[in-house]
Amino acid sequence: MKKKYGIIFISLALFLLLHQIYRFRQNIEQIQSYYDDKHVNIGFTEFELLQAKQYEIDLIQKYKLSAIVLHWKRSASVARAVNNLVNSKLFKEIVIWNNNPEITLEKTQFQQNTSVLIDIRVINSKENLKDEAKYRACAEANSIACFYADDDWDASFYLKSLIADFRADPYILHSVTDPGTFYTNLMWSYFDKNINLHTGFSWIGCGSIFLREYAQRHIEYLHTYLKNNRNLIHLSDVFFSIWLNDIPSQFNMDIRNLPGSHTGASFSSSSNFLQYQHQSSVLAIRILEHNLRWNQSNNTVNIKFSRTSKRRFPYYIKSSNPNDEFIFYTNILPIDIEHIPFNISKDFERGTRNNLPSGPGISFFASHTTLSAVDNKPSTCWRIGRNTRQGEFFAMDFLYIRTNLSFALIIGHTRELQNNIDMNLSFDGLLWITYPSKKGITIRSQNSTSNKLQYMIIFNSSQFNHGFRSFRYVAFNASKITYLEELQVCDVKIITTTNIKTL
Ligand SMILES: *[C@@H]1O[C@H](CO)[C@@H](O)[C@H](O)[C@H]1NC(C)=O
Ligand SMILES: *[C@@H]1O[C@H](CO)[C@@H](O)[C@H](O)[C@H]1NC(C)=O
Ligand SMILES: *[C@@H]1O[C@H](CO)[C@@H](O)[C@H](O)[C@H]1NC(C)=O
Ligand SMILES: *[C@@H]1O[C@H](CO)[C@@H](O)[C@H](O)[C@H]1NC(C)=O
Ligand SMILES: *[C@@H]1O[C@H](CO)[C@@H](O)[C@H](O)[C@H]1NC(C)=O
Ligand SMILES: *[C@@H]1O[C@H](CO)[C@@H](O)[C@H](O)[C@H]1NC(C)=O
Ligand SMILES: *[C@@H]1O[C@H](CO)[C@@H](O)[C@H](O)[C@H]1NC(C)=O
Ligand SMILES: *[C@@H]1O[C@H](CO)[C@@H](O)[C@H](O)[C@H]1NC(C)=O
Ligand SMILES: *[C@@H]1O[C@H](CO)[C@@H](O)[C@H](O)[C@H]1NC(C)=O
Repeated sequence: MKKKYGIIFISLALFLLLHQIYRFRQNIEQIQSYYDDKHVNIGFTEFELLQAKQYEIDLIQKYKLSAIVLHWKRSASVARAVNNLVNSKLFKEIVIWNNNPEITLEKTQFQQNTSVLIDIRVINSKENLKDEAKYRACAEANSIACFYADDDWDASFYLKSLIADFRADPYILHSVTDPGTFYTNLMWSYFDKNINLHTGFSWIGCGSIFLREYAQRHIEYLHTYLKNNRNLIHLSDVFFSIWLNDIPSQFNMDIRNLPGSHTGASFSSSSNFLQYQHQSSVLAIRILEHNLRWNQSNNTVNIKFSRTSKRRFPYYIKSSNPNDEFIFYTNILPIDIEHIPFNISKDFERGTRNNLPSGPGISFFASHTTLSAVDNKPSTCWRIGRNTRQGEFFAMDFLYIRTNLSFALIIGHTRELQNNIDMNLSFDGLLWITYPSKKGITIRSQNSTSNKLQYMIIFNSSQFNHGFRSFRYVAFNASKITYLEELQVCDVKIITTTNIKTL
């Protein structure tokens, strides 16, 4: 009897230990080579699959979301935005912050759909706090994290992807923007290893997710560091991403305005806005740089800026597909943001309209960006515009672990290049295993509408070797080679039994 309990105890301890290893990937380094050898042949075990799925459930439980909606004058569009958020069923709670002291909003105005159970809260502010209200509302949320979008943007076609992206890397800001702004934001990055500076700019209005803790901290920062510039507190958004001191995860998307949303006055059209924005952009980096450089040593009362980067992944460009089913992404950036020197005395205007993109770099990026791989048009391709270097990859995040998924790639690069890149699979986007076979993969050539030779590759994972039929992420990585050719992906899609005929 005693012995039996002993065995149960040891098994339990082993299980907990494996569980811990899974959760804290850093610890896995020492057993990495064991994983590599084993997985090359047999893939993931049933146990690993179950464990990864359990982890996925844990993250959904842990990172529930509150949606923040700001009201000023456009009551109708706010009501519509709330209704869309309710119907998405992706949120635990909706916090409506009314910035207009002349109007009192009631919760009942917004509870249109009683068939969906969700907490709706209305906070009527005594004054117009402008941007700061978003962070105040999030600070009041009952969930660990907040989703925010302006009421004039249609975030519905990337909401699921954005949420999956957030749960995979919860300690950074997740946001969405268009290709031109994406490129600009890369230019508006700041790195200096000597002072632990590693930050970049992002707007939050097209849809963003961040921890409630960051909103709470931002309010403290604003009231500490803008004590002498109180008028700029209203432009809180310009400071938010910079003061997080971590490069945000941004989606590069074809953003869309909601119809009829351009009625009523918006904050950004008020006089002096551009001047205040310029001043805020300069001040944001000046304050951060100063406090990191002087080590905050004589600053014992103030809340300090974080020195460590908490992101789990390298820097990527991402676009979700129009059906919000998966994210196409790559580690190939058009600008090597980490290695652009930064000197505050010369570069303080880096994050302003005095530093906007121009020239061939931006036009190439705009025409061949990651969006081109998910736009359902094989005639437009994501391209990198130069030879492929070792370690560069493109990948898909299918948002959750799928089994027996079929998907297709249309590539514009040669078959030779395709044969020389690895196909790796992963549950978490960090630990990869190579699929060592061609089973379940078919390739055929076709001509594009412009008569360019392309290849369509179909991956039917129900025909893959055992241990490789379930995954969330798929990466195509030039791990072994540097190639005298550029990567080109023209279309990616999930194949379901219904779209198989039109293929
Ligand atoms: C209420 O929510 C359900 C489920 O999301 C949706 O099908 C229905 O259209 C919604 N009704 C209204 C009035 O929005
Ligand atoms: C900041 O101060 C700590 C201890 O006071 C010191 O160890 C560290 O090197 C300093 N860092 C910088 C960037 O000056
Ligand atoms: C902190 O003290 C140093 C010298 O000890 C000084 O040069 C620096 O300006 C001070 N920093 C702040 C933020 O006041
Ligand atoms: C930063 O720029 C200023 C002004 O051009 C220069 O004096 C200073 O040496 C530079 N600092 C560094 C670390 O390069
Ligand atoms: C593609 O076009 C070339 C030249 O126009 C032609 O020879 C070839 O047969 C075409 N291939 C397919 C698959 O249609
Ligand atoms: C994938 O393979 C399975 C098993 O051979 C087959 O039933 C299914 O139709 C295939 N799916 C596609 C999209 O080709
Ligand atoms: C996946 O496909 C394999 C091979 O066709 C089949 O044996 C298995 O039952 C399928 N699994 C699921 C979860 O559909
Ligand atoms: C694939 O995984 C193998 C084994 O972990 C690794 O050596 C290689 O760099 C990875 N490449 C890709 C495609 O991710
Ligand atoms: C790609 O390959 C490089 C070099 O082998 C490796 O370091 C990296 O982890 C791989 N990345 C992915 C996503 O597999």
